[in-house]
Amino acid sequence: MDLSSVADQLDDEAADTRDVAAPRDRRSPSDADPLWWRSAAIYQIYPRSFADGNGDGVGDLAGVRHRLGYLKDLGVDAIWFTPWYPSPLADGGYDVADYTSIDPRFGTLEEAEALIQEALALGIRTIVDIVPNHISDQHPWFRAALAAGPGSPERDRFWFHPGKGPDGSEMPTGWESSFSGPTWTRTTNPDGTPGEWYLHLFTPQQPDLNWNHPDVRRMHEDVLRFWFDRGVGGVRIDSAALLVKDDTLPEVPENPQPGGHPTQDRDELHEIYRRWRAIADSYPGARILVGEIWLPDIHRFAKYLRNDELHTAFNFDFLARPWDAAELRASIDRTLAAHAPVDAPSTWVLSNHDVTRPVTRYGREDTSFAFAAKRAGTPTDLALGTRRARAAALLTAALPGALYIYQGDELGLPEVEDIPEDRLEDPMHFRSGGTDPGRDGCRVPLPWSGSRPPFGFSPPGAARPPWLPQPAAWSSLTVQAQDGDPSSTLWLYRDALRVRKALNGAPDTGFSWRSLGDGVLAFERGPEFLSITNLSEHDVELPDNAGILLASAPLRGGRLPPDSTAWLRTRRLPSRLRV
Ligand code: NOJ
Repeated sequence: MDLSSVADQLDDEAADTRDVAAPRDRRSPSDADPLWWRSAAIYQIYPRSFADGNGDGVGDLAGVRHRLGYLKDLGVDAIWFTPWYPSPLADGGYDVADYTSIDPRFGTLEEAEALIQEALALGIRTIVDIVPNHISDQHPWFRAALAAGPGSPERDRFWFHPGKGPDGSEMPTGWESSFSGPTWTRTTNPDGTPGEWYLHLFTPQQPDLNWNHPDVRRMHEDVLRFWFDRGVGGVRIDSAALLVKDDTLPEVPENPQPGGHPTQDRDELHEIYRRWRAIADSYPGARILVGEIWLPDIHRFAKYLRNDELHTAFNFDFLARPWDAAELRASIDRTLAAHAPVDAPSTWVLSNHDVTRPVTRYGREDTSFAFAAKRAGTPTDLALGTRRARAAALLTAALPGALYIYQGDELGLPEVEDIPEDRLEDPMHFRSGGTDPGRDGCRVPLPWSGSRPPFGFSPPGAARPPWLPQPAAWSSLTVQAQDGDPSSTLWLYRDALRVRKALNGAPDTGFSWRSLGDGVLAFERGPEFLSITNLSEHDVELPDNAGILLASAPLRGGRLPPDSTAWLRTRRLPSRLRV
């Protein structure tokens, strides 16, 4: 497929009513395509909230299998599941009690195996989430460690330590949790006296594993093989830069030197990922390792992407930037420059299950993202936010590298900011003493059809309502409502992914900026494709020899209005646009 045939298809479709599913790309993944991950569009499924097959109000694998056609029509190359393992759900499943089976609320291992194969038959690879930094306190290892007591080999798999002070009542370190509150919890000895402390960088229900212990390494290597044996195309590695700790337990220095933080980005991590890469590479085709790595230093970040370590990692720098041309351009430049020396593709991520939905964020006065400042309750203009989120979707989809789409962003869902307190579940909220709104607002079950909750999320006659309440206003955002509307955000995503696939499949699709004035991000991908995002306050004139492939908003008198993106097919750029 080339860009001109895509352009023709888009024209044809614009003329019809678009009430049919998008044409299917019948390519199926094959081991002969070792580079699929470099430009893949990867859709993140939060299984509790995607689709409920059995009517218990919680999403499940039956629901996902039923909706695989939707994902195929959307045009994604892979799906990444946040943890689907048995879990007490102290942190939405990132407290894993068993890494090699499926939580019964979601289904069975056989269903997961069937899902992986059914998705593959549609050309969609599956990526599973591996959580190596910590484990559930209900995992047999941790229960055995508590029972075995101080000094036992069972405790060596974790970070058990005596407390400081004469009676051991002070925590071994003052390390801070990214979930607010302490990182150590004191145990009680079998005789009822206060005992040792154990480390948990997140909640007390997520004790950190000791990566100096061979059992811990072996277990995770086995877990990788377990899922690769079942045909998954890759793993997403949770908290990938946190696994190794300085075992002398120093306090965090005021300005840690690179690699000098006691719990983050320690040099020993690279050896672990080299071993993991060797395991991934021992399987046919490309089985990929994707790191969840939040690091301020992008050069340290890029070190994880050397060609014998991780394949890619999430680019959170871009996600955190405000809606500002100079900031976004600087982030794009920084990202591309840091990835080039290690020859790794960038990833482009607008949101995920941890951050405020773009529609809500981009409608605020301060459009940047930071965990410490989610700005819940500050006014947001959802119409403006939606406009910008659509523009951002095209901007990121046009950039070179892999693209991540968080479920529901393709529907333009906003953050739900009025979930009743007694329905909230996120530990970030509770551990902050209620000052942090938490992450439930971006995890509300998807609206599929109909005019009232559960909006087709659960089957008719479901026994229970969705586990988080859906806003009544979502009736206009359902898949069904958007499927019949050619100007919907869902169709924008479908069209964008199709053009993007043709673009990335074309030869010579480099990247170069074009100058179209202040507040405008314009870049070429090869000689035929130009993406223009207007972040200024004025309409922008478009090059006159270019045909519009796609636009996130209607043009005004042939000009691109503020807060929108257009994709153009250019045969030859006019000289005034050349730099
Ligand atoms: C990152 C995950 O995305 C987040 O949801 C989780 O709470 C933490 N890691 C801890 O596992």
